[in-house]
Amino acid sequence: MIAIYPGSFDPVTLGHIDIIRRAAALYDTIHVSVLDNPSKKCSFTLEERVEMIKKVIKDLDNVVVTGFDGLLVDHAKSVKAGVIIRGVRNTKDFESEYQRAILNNRVKGGIETVFLPADPGHVAMSSTAVREICAFDGNIEFLVPKEIIDEVKNKLRKK
Ligand code: PNS
Repeated sequence: MIAIYPGSFDPVTLGHIDIIRRAAALYDTIHVSVLDNPSKKCSFTLEERVEMIKKVIKDLDNVVVTGFDGLLVDHAKSVKAGVIIRGVRNTKDFESEYQRAILNNRVKGGIETVFLPADPGHVAMSSTAVREICAFDGNIEFLVPKEIIDEVKNKLRKK
């Protein structure tokens, strides 16, 4: 089965990468789909977000990384995905992801969502934390894959 793992990935974290690797072991193909939404102001361009993920997961030959805009269900159908994957860190994530899953299951014929529980070591990780810590030159090595640390620091550090 083909699965889709959507997100903003601004930037990708070790938590996201763990979900991608685990999903890649469960499904035939994973489409990592990076949201291109001009109304959501991102720190990294769509191309930068896509390229950073590609750089980190280049050893996985069943993962495809692309951008998407519009409704997730439309994009999922265009790549023939049968399921959406979302990582869940805590009950707050669960509440919002549960609502999102219901919506995605009702619009345009719908698609199911499968939740993967975050690794216990990753529950405090978020792209927001990366951006905040990096802006003030804090250590992000425990949050971001080593392959992209320099790029992330160069972009986010306050000059
Ligand atoms: O990493 P994020 O920001 O939590 O990911 C959010 C994302 C990309 C999954 C969500 O914003 C999304 O699916 N956007 C596409 C618009 C859409 O389909 N909305 C209806 C269902 S909520």
